[in-house]
Amino acid sequence: MEILHTAAELQARAEMWRREGRRIGLVPTMGALHEGHLQLVRAAARECNVVVATIFVNPTQFNNADDFRLYPRLPEADAALLAPAGCTALFLPTVEQMYPQPTVLRFDFGPLERVMEGAHRPGHFNGVATIVSKLFHLSCPHRAYFGQKDLQQVAIVRQLVADLSFDLKLVAFPTVREADGLAMSSRNRRLDAAARAVAPRLYQGLQLAEELVRAGQATPSAVQTAAAGFVAAEPQITLEYFEVADAHTLQPLTEWQPGRPVALCLAAHLGGVRLIDNVVVS
Ligand code: PAJ
Repeated sequence: MEILHTAAELQARAEMWRREGRRIGLVPTMGALHEGHLQLVRAAARECNVVVATIFVNPTQFNNADDFRLYPRLPEADAALLAPAGCTALFLPTVEQMYPQPTVLRFDFGPLERVMEGAHRPGHFNGVATIVSKLFHLSCPHRAYFGQKDLQQVAIVRQLVADLSFDLKLVAFPTVREADGLAMSSRNRRLDAAARAVAPRLYQGLQLAEELVRAGQATPSAVQTAAAGFVAAEPQITLEYFEVADAHTLQPLTEWQPGRPVALCLAAHLGGVRLIDNVVVS
């Protein structure tokens, strides 16, 4: 596995791979890698000849300075995990490489970003769209791999790919979980033992909501109330939102839409760490 540090290096490599007729798979990450990230890399390795993983803690997508400062950074340990998973090139740029000057371009994804993460983390998806666009331009991937763990991010990137005619296939990979159901996340490393012990309740709340949807609960708001109440009943958990939404538009549902998948999404704080999770009921 080669390690690339500059945008120019990645661009030159991508041009070469394209000339050689190789199929390029891109896996963008912020590092502190776990099995969820590695499964994206393995999927890319199965479907592509070149796998580019990127590790960059992107400052423009953080709306909380402490969250940015405390975000785990473990580039050496990450590099050791990537090679055996099938990564062929690791892009590890500096902030100066990715942002030689402050960006002025602003993205507006309309209703898609006015809910959930977009509503609760102002500017977050502008930063995601900016960095993902840069990475797409630099690495010219045939396929780009994203996790459904960040369901709204997948929807935003799908819109970005369509609106800017990026010539690539977006692959959305299912959420990888710990044995007790907790969705894997780099931020899980920051949970202390007490917070980690109650963290599975987030997924249990989503499973409860899924059961209620499948059982034909009268209204979306009845599901929301029951599942949010279950999660929030744990004193260590502060629920930020629990949404019952249309899985395509991510807009909150006021009534069931027959035949359309339902997204159950939450964000919660526990032990000073903010976590998100979701389940899609089809
Ligand atoms: P990060 O949180 O590091 O996640 C990188 C990729 O791994 C994302 O596509 C994310 O959805 C996926 N992922 C994270 N946890 C997962 C899990 N438990 N199961 C499956 N996939 C999982 O998302 C970002 O970084 C950034 O916003 C980024 C896209 C890199 C732009 O900066």
